[in-house]
Amino acid sequence: MKWNHLKGKNFISKFQKAMALYPREKMTIHLGAEKEDEENQFRKLKTGQYITIEKSLPEIKIQRLLRIADQRFKKVSDRPLYIADEITLGDSVEKRHQLSGALAMLKKAKNLLQTNIGDEIAIIRQKTLLRRTWPMSEDHSRKLGHNASNLTWHQDSNPKHGNRAMIVLMASLQDGFGEQIPGLSIHNLEVNSFKGIYGYDGKKVEIFEKQAKEVDKNSQIKRPRLNRGDMIIFDGLTFHRTYATETMTSPRDALLVRVVKPKDTQNFGELQHIKLNIKKL
Ligand SMILES: [Fe+2]
Repeated sequence: MKWNHLKGKNFISKFQKAMALYPREKMTIHLGAEKEDEENQFRKLKTGQYITIEKSLPEIKIQRLLRIADQRFKKVSDRPLYIADEITLGDSVEKRHQLSGALAMLKKAKNLLQTNIGDEIAIIRQKTLLRRTWPMSEDHSRKLGHNASNLTWHQDSNPKHGNRAMIVLMASLQDGFGEQIPGLSIHNLEVNSFKGIYGYDGKKVEIFEKQAKEVDKNSQIKRPRLNRGDMIIFDGLTFHRTYATETMTSPRDALLVRVVKPKDTQNFGELQHIKLNIKKL
């Protein structure tokens, strides 16, 4: 942040006092090398980059979501829950997004969303999910008959939406994301189109990793670590997959939200997507 325009000691000391009362949560951007920068929240995110913001989901929302998760997710094959359809969270889709904490996450990423999407945003209705992910091998996931543990390398965009603006936000409900419980592997490969899914139908995970090295020999896989309530943000073309190891024994719960421009919601079906002005959050 540039301070040149701030004249006078008085202002600075008042500002410092205010900052001491309201400390900023740590925000980190990952551009290949680790770097912290308080202007990150205004940054145009490139494909392959991600930002983490600490304490993005309030404790009351975390506890509410965990109660629902414990009731609904009993076995590895249980599918994610659509927040828009969760009647225990209120009688409207908007209320359900508020009570789940989805809107709180967007508020924390307000400047980033303004820069990357615009003031007018749309939450993709069927992509706000409460998801429980168990640590399991790719083989086990395959035998369950669907991508139960999200172990494929994939992008969250789709063939129709392609490279249009899209931001993915994911908050962990537990400590130890990416360490003691499943996390995410993020590939920092810069791509500019939707490439499909690697992990099924002969297009194996290893094939993608080999191709990525051929495109950019310096490309890397990052494994961010999050604690309870922290969130990770990346764009709709960034390749990612669940990161899990054999030493992990407990599942991880996460709240996921995907945001696009209102004019692009048609790429995600004719549903009642949630349109709002980011300034009013
Ligand atoms: Fe995903």
